[in-house]
Amino acid sequence: MENISEMNSATDTSRISISAHYTGYIWYKNGLSHRQFVTPMGRAAYWALKPMNVFMQAMIGASIDTFLMQRHFVLDHLVEQAIEEGYEQIVELAAGLSSRGYLIKQAHPGVHYVEGDLPGMSARKAELLDQLCRQPGHITQPCNILDESGEHSIESLLAGLDKSKKTLIITEGLVNYFDLGTIRKVWSRMAIAMKDFPQARYITEVYPKLEQHPSYKYVKVAQKVVGFFTQGEYPLHYSSDEEMQQGFLEDGFARVNVTAPEDYYDKLDMPTSSRQSLVRLVVADV
Ligand SMILES: C[S@@+](CC[C@H](N)C(=O)[O-])C[C@H]1O[C@@H](n2cnc3c(N)ncnc32)[C@H](O)[C@@H]1O
Repeated sequence: MENISEMNSATDTSRISISAHYTGYIWYKNGLSHRQFVTPMGRAAYWALKPMNVFMQAMIGASIDTFLMQRHFVLDHLVEQAIEEGYEQIVELAAGLSSRGYLIKQAHPGVHYVEGDLPGMSARKAELLDQLCRQPGHITQPCNILDESGEHSIESLLAGLDKSKKTLIITEGLVNYFDLGTIRKVWSRMAIAMKDFPQARYITEVYPKLEQHPSYKYVKVAQKVVGFFTQGEYPLHYSSDEEMQQGFLEDGFARVNVTAPEDYYDKLDMPTSSRQSLVRLVVADV
């Protein structure tokens, strides 16, 4: 259970946390995670969604898991690229049961890695990481992206970091749980707070509303399934890459690059789909 007493009902989105069990299991099942992050709930959710995945694979040549894997591979690649560029402070918001932080700390012990999530999920992750003897500089911190102030806000988390270091923020599997107005407010607040660092970058995936896409009707089905699973909506954001880029510029980012998984097919060994992909990767610098 999340520590609901610490959140008011408007900002309590702990109903979404169940999805972290599912994705945590997908990462593990595909060799991208440590067994430590597998939960019985994640395994059960995988089997519950299996028929849906088989159906999508047959109809559109790619399943929900294909799109999850694609985003995860590309985000990992973009994070590695940022580390090569000298980003040595990384904040992963809504990190859930992903083992990205653990793996990055294994590969780059010098990187300072902070995993933020709602209090309940953050406590659970802290316990799992402690059992793996987490390294110094690998922090878990309660954070609610909707809190505009207070100890769980993004602002407070960033205030605790080294202001002399190039800093990267990542979110994965988070932004489409909120309507565009709500998440844009978060992005604007983030862009302001990021200006305190010599260089700062935000990386996320966004699922756009591609109504002309040949698979759009199946996307609507998947959207309903995810919404049912997490007891809420799963709105799609922006109708084109250009609109998405413009939105991030208006939210206060200075340089914005929007790409699709197929832009990386020649570089990364990851699952591909025969049709144009349904997810976009955004790299936004302040
Ligand atoms: C689909 S999971 C993604 C987890 C992980 N990033 C991954 O890709 O496996 C969504 C995550 O968002 C977190 N979350 C939901 N609402 C949040 C909020 N308001 N602030 C911060 N994290 C939130 C949940 O606890 C959960 O861990």
